[in-house]
Formats: sequence, C-alpha cells, structure tokens
Amino acid sequence: MSFNALKEKGLPLEKQLRTWHKIAGKPYNKTEVDCYTRTRQILMNGIEVEAWNFHHTFDRLCPDREDANLVAQVCRIEDQQQATINWMAPADQSVLETTLGYEQVAVDLTAWLAQNEPDDYVKETFDFGLLEDFDHLYRYSQWAYMMEGIKPNAIVQGQTDVILGRPTQNHHNCNALRRRKHYDKQTASPQTKVNILTLVSGEQQTHNYYAEHGFTYGNNVLRETYAEIKDVEEEHVTMYESLIDPTESLYEKLLIHEFTEVCNYYTCLEDECDEKIKKIWEMFLDFELGHLNIAAELFKKYEKRDPEEVIGEDIIIPCRFKSQKEYVAKVLTSEIDKRLGTDRDYMTLDKLPDDWVSYNIQSAQNELGSPTENTIRIISLHHKRDIVKADDSLKNQEVELLKKGLEKKSLAPDTVKPDELQCMIDKHKEFKEKKK
Ligand SMILES: [Fe+2]
Ligand SMILES: [Fe+2]
Ligand SMILES: [Fe+2]
Ligand SMILES: [Fe+2]
Repeated sequence: MSFNALKEKGLPLEKQLRTWHKIAGKPYNKTEVDCYTRTRQILMNGIEVEAWNFHHTFDRLCPDREDANLVAQVCRIEDQQQATINWMAPADQSVLETTLGYEQVAVDLTAWLAQNEPDDYVKETFDFGLLEDFDHLYRYSQWAYMMEGIKPNAIVQGQTDVILGRPTQNHHNCNALRRRKHYDKQTASPQTKVNILTLVSGEQQTHNYYAEHGFTYGNNVLRETYAEIKDVEEEHVTMYESLIDPTESLYEKLLIHEFTEVCNYYTCLEDECDEKIKKIWEMFLDFELGHLNIAAELFKKYEKRDPEEVIGEDIIIPCRFKSQKEYVAKVLTSEIDKRLGTDRDYMTLDKLPDDWVSYNIQSAQNELGSPTENTIRIISLHHKRDIVKADDSLKNQEVELLKKGLEKKSLAPDTVKPDELQCMIDKHKEFKEKKK
C-alpha cells in the first residue's frame, strides 16, 4: 500500500501535550507480552532517544531563534514519547531479561534491514554487525540462566536462535577500521537513509542501556561482560553512523529523522498484536506526521528544494519483526570468519595482514582475558556445557563454527578453544546418558 507521509497533516504540535497520567502509562505483563511487542517497545524507545538527542543538537547549532524555539517544542514532545514507550516495560522485568530483548532486537532488526537494503555495501555492513549481536545474545543468555534461572526462550520465545556467533573477544577494533564508507546523499535511496538511522538509534540505545545498567549486578565477571559488550555497541554506533553522508545539512538531517520516526511507527502500527499498545503507535504516528510537516517546511525554507528529493514519496518499512533464523544461519555459516578490511572493505581471517591494526586493540583490552570467554567457562561449571537453543542442524556445527570464527593470532588467555568446547559437549552428553 502506498502512503505519502508528506501529504498527511498529522496532529498539530500544540495538541501533542499529554497529561502525566498518559505520559507514564501502564506497563505490559512480561509473561504475556509477545516477544515482538517487546522488541518494538525497545526499538521505539531508541528511536525517540535519538530524536531527542538530535533535536537538542539542532537547537545548539541553529542561529535562528524562531526555528530553534519550534524545534525545542518538538524536542519536548519526543522526550514525552520516549518516557511513554520506555516505561511500557514492567518493573519486574530484570536487567538481564531486558538485555536479551535488546539483543533480539539487534539480531532480528539487522537481519530484516539487510534483506531490505538496496545498497550492497550497506547490506554487507549490516550482515557484519548482525553476527556480533548474535554472539552477544548467546553470551548474555548464559548469564540470564546462571543469575536468574531464566532460559533464553522465556524472552525470545523460540523466534531467535541462541548459539555462538563471531566470538565477542574478536569484536574489538581500531576505530579507523570501524568507520566505513558513507553513502552519497545525492544518489542514496530514502530506504538506505531510513534503514541506517533506524539501526544507529537501536545500537545507540543498546549501548546506553548497558552503560546505565551493567553495574546493577554484584557478580564481577558479569559486570565485566557488560563492560566488554557495551564497548562493542559503542563500535556499532561508530560503524553504522559512519555510513551516513556527513555533508547533509542540519535541515536535511531533521527531515530524515522525522521521516524515520514516521516509517517506524507506521510499521509498528501495521504489525502490533497488542490492542492497547497499537493505539499508542497510532497516536504517535499522528504526532510524527505533525513533526514531519514542520521539518519539511523548514527544509523548503532553507534548502529551496522539495523534501521528496530526500525522502521520496512512499513509506518505508524499516522494522518488520519476525523470525529470521534461516537468514541468520546462512550468514553465520558463511561469514563468521569475516573481518574489517584495511581499505574500508571486508576480508576473511586468512587474508588479514600481520600488522592488522585491530590486533593491537584486542591484545590490549583482552590482556587479562575476555569476560565473554570466561562466561562460557563458568556456565560449564553450572551446566556442563554452554546453553544453546537452535535446531540440531545448526547446533551440530557449533565446534566447527568456533574453529572457523576465532582469530588464532590474538586469542585472549582464557579463550574456550574448539577442542575444549567439544569436551564440554561430550561431558554433557555423557551426563545426560547417565541420568537416563
Ligand atoms: Fe518522536
Ligand atoms: Fe549487541
Ligand atoms: Fe550491536
Ligand atoms: Fe518526531
């Protein structure tokens, strides 16, 4: 169905103020919520945090007092939307449960975006990041079980596999390598712009969540695990934001931000199964159409161009959440040994030069060990082996995948090597046989 957001009026800004009662709203029930309602809630919180940040940046850089006043009013509404969405999460949903939700967002959103991305280089970058968040989901799943007795399917509801990805100890890179080639604002499709900004927003919020909550557990290895993975999310923000053309003007960026919000709410409204939450997506879509109108008028005033030249004439679907197991398994088995190339390209492990700059980062940060490796050692004491949730066809490839995915040149001292993992798996099997 075609929907030209620029032809819609939306709700006028002066009608967007709500009562505290409405802003604070009511939480969902963590045992009844559909996992993809939770992923929408997590992502849209990230979208609003990015919107709020950007509008403040605009205000700080905009010399025109009237424009800045108007954008400040929009900014306040973005902030109120953020509270409503973030506070849909119930007080009894633990930090680790929420964390599994965040990584499920990253995996299933990135997989959707990669398959709906017209630019091959951007797609390749999405696929690259996908395998890192996929590994985070696996590492955190071990902790959810050890600390709180939560099995990953209590959160991901069997929609997303849990098994190792590109090992997290290998995600630490030189920033110059993380920064990729940016699109050209003149030729990039609106879909590429919306896809990237959606993912930047999600990754930034994931980083913020780990930064704000990693300390809430007393277990020191878990604290260090949050520190390690948070740092990768920081790299993900760097990587994805570097795909954006830095020469877009502030007004162009404002337009893309509001359009990205419109597209995401539009998708949420189409897909939502919870009737109460669906009404909120509908209301916020109406708010965003109002914001888009304001951004489009400012853009026309300063750029003397049609907003359609930047965002096109049709809606984009950036966040269709659904199970992506098949796609993720395909990327996992074929690209686990991919690394960031030195010329903003991608390389396989066997082609990396001896002086690859990320080795320095990895050897410095992993010098005393990698907490995400230690995680697997500790779970093996609880459970004989790691916790994995995947079909047997994928599960049976785990040791081979680790062999292919690990960098031999910069192993953290506490690395669980493939033969050790095989040993754990055998012990677990033996134990299960005995129990019969
Ligand atoms: Fe918003
Ligand atoms: Fe992640
Ligand atoms: Fe990430
Ligand atoms: Fe907005």
